[in-house]
Amino acid sequence: MPLAPSPTLLVTGGAGYIGSHTLIELIQAGYRPIVLDNFSNGSAHALKRVESLTGHALEVIEGDIRDAALLDTVFHQTKAHGAPIQGVVHFAGLKAVGESVAAPLDYYQTNVAGTLTLLQAMDQAQVHTIVFSSSATVYGIPREQPYTEMHPIAPINPYGQTKAMVEQVLRDWCATLPARRAICLRYFNPIGAHPSGMLGEAPQGIPNNLFPFITQVAVGKRSHLNIFGNDYPTVDGTGVRDYIHVLDLAVGHVKALEHARGTTGGFAAVNLGTGRGTSVLELLNTFSAISGRKIPYEFQPRRPGDIAECWADPSTAEALLGWKATRTLEDMCADGWRWQSRNPNGYED
Ligand code: NAD
Ligand code: UD1
Repeated sequence: MPLAPSPTLLVTGGAGYIGSHTLIELIQAGYRPIVLDNFSNGSAHALKRVESLTGHALEVIEGDIRDAALLDTVFHQTKAHGAPIQGVVHFAGLKAVGESVAAPLDYYQTNVAGTLTLLQAMDQAQVHTIVFSSSATVYGIPREQPYTEMHPIAPINPYGQTKAMVEQVLRDWCATLPARRAICLRYFNPIGAHPSGMLGEAPQGIPNNLFPFITQVAVGKRSHLNIFGNDYPTVDGTGVRDYIHVLDLAVGHVKALEHARGTTGGFAAVNLGTGRGTSVLELLNTFSAISGRKIPYEFQPRRPGDIAECWADPSTAEALLGWKATRTLEDMCADGWRWQSRNPNGYED
């Protein structure tokens, strides 16, 4: 439970896929989130839908995490109004692996320099708590499965490097003042949508990731799925991942904040996954059965940079945060399909 009534939080990137779902859980847990988003990949419609689902009017600032003056104003004004920001949930960033290879400076600028600017503003305002969106991608090539948090950090692309660098920055930031608390949540593969069918993932252009591609085939926006590789040493030759319902992930942030607020300080990095691996064909077949839609597919060569399989050891999350994923693959497919079928063009309808 929150320690004070409606503690104020700054939620960067709250208009995005994971941020918008997390806002719902934060509001329901009694927090007062202030959203800061530059809308480069987020949607104002998503925030409106969060408002109608929660009955809570959101405070939204359109702006960039790299804008130091804006951040100082936001921290200062909330303090002046008697409801100072007590913690930051930091989703804002760029997240496409291929794009990070093509434009690494953009990724270092937004993800690393942007986080440094944010931390400097937090220091100015003496805000000591941050929950950061990290990724299982920090582990790189798996030495063994499942990934525990002790696995070496060895990212294989600039996007992953930015996440690993920010984790290191947060580790060092915490070490300089005992009151500082940073929890890096290493997400596995978030999919699915809010069960209302009102919130979901709305990728711009051709989806890079598997699940939104499947749902777009199902709704008739794309002719077929290309499956990248059927010769991996896995259960059926296709890649295996740990898919996690976006709402389970959202709950993980509430648990992380509760944990951070209940400790004296320090750094932690925690896997958020289900602990279960699912192949591309298994996901496809489950989705087909749930949606009643046939998903045509073609096998293609492996996608460069892909690993055969990965899944989480989520035991740290359970031990430290009291968090465990509860939603099944069927839930992920049913909720994702409800969202896609009711919103074939995402938030643009
Ligand atoms: P998203 O793109 O939907 O959300 C990111 C939000 O940040 C968007 O609303 C975007 O407009 C905003 N943003 C981007 N740059 C900004 C800036 N400079 N200033 C202010 N706002 C900015 O992505 P998501 O899937 O919700 O991911 C959220 C976070 O989780 C990201 O940091 C991402 O790297 C991380 N993550 C995502 C996944 C995934 O599969 N979706 C997996 C692991 C980690
Ligand atoms: C990708 C990112 C990773 C990010 C993660 C979560 C890469 C190299 N890695 O990982 O950094 O944290 O998303 O969002 O991009 N697949 C197909 N056809 C498709 C798309 C994917 O067969 O059209 C396969 C892939 O080969 C893989 C599986 O589906 O085996 C999952 O792919 P994807 O959803 O892109 O996630 P990751 O590869 O795990």
